[in-house]
Amino acid sequence: MELVKVRFKVNGEEVNLEVKPYETLLETLRERLELTGAKEGCGLGACGACTVLLNGKPVRSCLVLTPEVEGAEITTIEGLKEGERLHPLQEAFIQHGAVQCGFCTSGMILTAKALLDRKPKADRAQIVRSISSNICRCTGYKKIIEAVEAVSQRMAE
Ligand code: FES
Ligand code: FES
Repeated sequence: MELVKVRFKVNGEEVNLEVKPYETLLETLRERLELTGAKEGCGLGACGACTVLLNGKPVRSCLVLTPEVEGAEITTIEGLKEGERLHPLQEAFIQHGAVQCGFCTSGMILTAKALLDRKPKADRAQIVRSISSNICRCTGYKKIIEAVEAVSQRMAE
């Protein structure tokens, strides 16, 4: 099978690969680049566990083909830390107990990050709407919403 050359950035680092034409971004991230923060839940675009940022926008990486991201900038959960400091959303998830099994967490945080990048003072309704298609089977969502809200309220001060 003919492989496709693709070049893009992941967490600020340039990546040059040859991939199968139908390889998904989720496979590339997890299996080639060993960035396993994005999880494979449904593999069908329904759960949000595989969410990463593509040029700043949340996408379901199980639905994106790697050849489609030529020239793009991808951010995964591994890229959120600044040095040794966790991102404020990561800290808030820990402080608010918004993580149980953790399977949904990277997708939730990246979805919330995209919202707060656009709307730093997002209110509760906007937060709920933004994460509404990310499924969490453990937390009941309340603590996740509170964690994101705590960060947006800090931005509003
Ligand atoms: S694994 Fe991609 S949306 Fe569920
Ligand atoms: S913490 Fe388990 S799925 Fe959300």
